[in-house]
Amino acid sequence: MTMLRSVLLGCGSYLPERVLTNDELARDIETSNEWIVQRTGIEQRHIAASGEVTSDLAIKAARAALAAAHVDAQSIDLIVVATSTPDNTFPATAVTVQAGLGITRGAAFDLQAVCSGFVFALATTDGLLRTGTYKRALVIGAETFSRILDWKDRTTCVLFGDGAGAVVLEAQQQGGGRDDRGILTTHLRSDGRHKSKLYVDGGPSSTQTVGHLRMEGRAVFKHAVAMITDVIEDAFRTTGYTAADIDWFVPHQANKRIIDDSAHKLGIAPQKVVITVGQHGNTSAASIPLALNVAIKDGRIKKGDLVLLEAMGGGFTWGSALVRW
Ligand code: ACO
Repeated sequence: MTMLRSVLLGCGSYLPERVLTNDELARDIETSNEWIVQRTGIEQRHIAASGEVTSDLAIKAARAALAAAHVDAQSIDLIVVATSTPDNTFPATAVTVQAGLGITRGAAFDLQAVCSGFVFALATTDGLLRTGTYKRALVIGAETFSRILDWKDRTTCVLFGDGAGAVVLEAQQQGGGRDDRGILTTHLRSDGRHKSKLYVDGGPSSTQTVGHLRMEGRAVFKHAVAMITDVIEDAFRTTGYTAADIDWFVPHQANKRIIDDSAHKLGIAPQKVVITVGQHGNTSAASIPLALNVAIKDGRIKKGDLVLLEAMGGGFTWGSALVRW
């Protein structure tokens, strides 16, 4: 029996020009390149220029994704931007992106699930596309985390960076089996009991300020691998695929040790894991599409490949998506 699937037509990304290295950070705070690389795998991150806002990054990533998909902006009728660092409290950054792309039809909204935002946005968009109401969507992860970091706090400021990534999705009739192209299954989870382990200490309703990111790093680390493997095992159970069937594992890029431990626990071979945290740092909702784009551009991910995505972040929130490129 045929069914509507959300097929990925193209991917694009954008990184701000300015690169901030670990050695530069070590000039201002008590840290070292060795400590950061050994604990996280991060060597450098990109930082948005003064006046460069999340929607600027998102629009550039969206244009690159549209070009890669060979589709015109005017054919897009849904835009979902995953971000925790919107240009303003409101309106949604997505409407600025919509206007920037010259689109006046369809719907545009933001989605907030911190580092899991891209997977949550992908799942939400997949649901909307499969209703048949929308035909073609842009899903964007875009962040300027440099604006919510406490640059005096060495336990957090060394971890994050700015950037944006986007994919174009189209509703297409497919055979209905697990060999279809597109999103095959998504699994989302949240547990608000952990909200104080990773949060921003400000907001419009609580402090009327933007606030700074606060994190109990060790506690996040402790939960991360179990949460990640939990939703991936859900994806395997639903589709019947196993770790051996996966062509590429594109995880959220928070920490190389979390990525390595998760892949090891799942039995995914190291050569199938796409790792960009060294060059990008943790770009929250942008990290998965940024990593995807690197692996597509360098020829690793090809049409028909089975690609496993996962993320976990503040909340806690976590989720997985299994897609055939
Ligand atoms: N440079 C040098 N030393 C440091 C730094 C630094 N940048 N930061 C902390 N230290 C020190 C600590 O003060 C501590 O010193 P002490 O032993 O004298 O007290 C020591 O290094 C060890 O600190 P730990 O916190 O135990 O280090 P750990 O090995 O756990 O690494 C890290 C810390 C990298 C934060 C790790 O816990 C981690 O990656 N956690 C997960 C974080 C994560 O994934 N967050 C993103 C989630 S996604 C989202 O939603 C935003």
